[in-house]
Amino acid sequence: MGALSRVASVGAAIAVGAGLTPAAAEAQAALTYYRDVAPIIRNHCQSCHRSAASNFGTPLAPMPLLSYEDTRPWARAIASKVRSREMPPWFADAPRGVFRNERGLTEAEIATVVDWVAAGAPAGDPAFAPAFAADEVSAAATAGGWTLGEPDFVVRMEEPYVVPDDAFNVNRAVDVRIPEELLPEDTWVRGWELRAGADGPGVHHMCAYVRPEDGRVLTGTTESAVPFGGLLNCIADGAESGLLPDGWGRLLEKGSVVNFNMHFNKEPGPGTSFSSQPEVGFFIEKRPVKYEVITDTLANNGFEIPPNVANYRVGMARTLKTDILVLSYWPHGHLRATAVKYVAYYPDGTEELLLDVPRYDQDWQVVYDYAEPKLLPRGTRIEAEYRFTNTQERGVRRGFDANRATGYGARTNDEMAFGFISYAEPGGE
Ligand code: HEC
Repeated sequence: MGALSRVASVGAAIAVGAGLTPAAAEAQAALTYYRDVAPIIRNHCQSCHRSAASNFGTPLAPMPLLSYEDTRPWARAIASKVRSREMPPWFADAPRGVFRNERGLTEAEIATVVDWVAAGAPAGDPAFAPAFAADEVSAAATAGGWTLGEPDFVVRMEEPYVVPDDAFNVNRAVDVRIPEELLPEDTWVRGWELRAGADGPGVHHMCAYVRPEDGRVLTGTTESAVPFGGLLNCIADGAESGLLPDGWGRLLEKGSVVNFNMHFNKEPGPGTSFSSQPEVGFFIEKRPVKYEVITDTLANNGFEIPPNVANYRVGMARTLKTDILVLSYWPHGHLRATAVKYVAYYPDGTEELLLDVPRYDQDWQVVYDYAEPKLLPRGTRIEAEYRFTNTQERGVRRGFDANRATGYGARTNDEMAFGFISYAEPGGE
């Protein structure tokens, strides 16, 4: 108690010095790290700002914010990033609650953090600290490096692939049959986590697909979007793996093949070689599954963005041949992509904005997960629209050549315009 009031009066002195009214200074001075700020940081920052072995595909931040000592030196940067809403990172405009994994602080939480910093970022009384140990966060978040906990079984590429010194851009697709010991019978899974298993930077993305033994392409009854049939998911910068909601699953047929699709991209040169042995950890679902998840994509691979244009539109669409229950969207573009939207045009003539990402950033490959899966009736036309800015100004910041017309391509310096959707066909079976 004594310690707390001493800290409070130091805070008040600083705040008064900053020209606040005595009443405002009092309110600010009352804010302390342990009581007011630590719970906000725990809930909204530590999933990324923690110390843990780096796993490509997990949005790990440059510095941990696990303790007061970690946080204090960053106080000013924290106030500024929180005020500008750059942290926690989130790119969609949607009413609160639409997406389960949305990030963001309330106005009141922002004010708490900003005022606490203005008051000198006092620690306060550790007795108020939320009941958790900082390293528990790390440990729980990364069991053996898996962010979703220990998987039931892991399928791994048999040999590490070595990306040599002189390589610049390498695409590798490798099939691994799931061994019978791991998958003795058809098995429902409720999630999977992809790991690139790389010992150096240079993995641009990793995707994994599952194909049944007989080679069937797994898509819904809506137009199939080859080559994405059977996609589990992809990881790239800022992407996270997640478990499916209750009642959802995916059937892995005995004898299935996992296709690891790797894209490596680096500057060639001595000492730049690294190896990658990708793996997928699967989580078995023993409870009954009502909805089988399908992931495929709206796509436009035939576009060409002219040199030196801003806000160039690329669209794509599909009309649903059956009702679908949508679980999530994952827009995927590259360096020139600045915004993306998905819109539904319903058979009754009405329309609805499904996803609006006005600040697209390729460094953050976010999957937008509905809190409540959304039913889109048969006959709905889904359109996705990208905006691309191929200008010198953006090119300098992002590292691309804006004097070049650019179309679909696998390199980071080419473009992509994919509107991935994960859904079930509730009427089908
Ligand atoms: C989803 C992961 C994630 C979450 C959640 C998150 N951050 Fe970050 N943060 C990052 C990453 C990655 C970076 C570095 C890249 C960047 O700046 O975009 C970063 C950068 C920062 C920086 C700038 C560091 C510098 O070098 O200047 C600050 C300050 C910061 N975060 C504070 C916060 C605070 C405070 C919260 C919670 C309110 C938060 N972050 C939540 C991932 C995250």
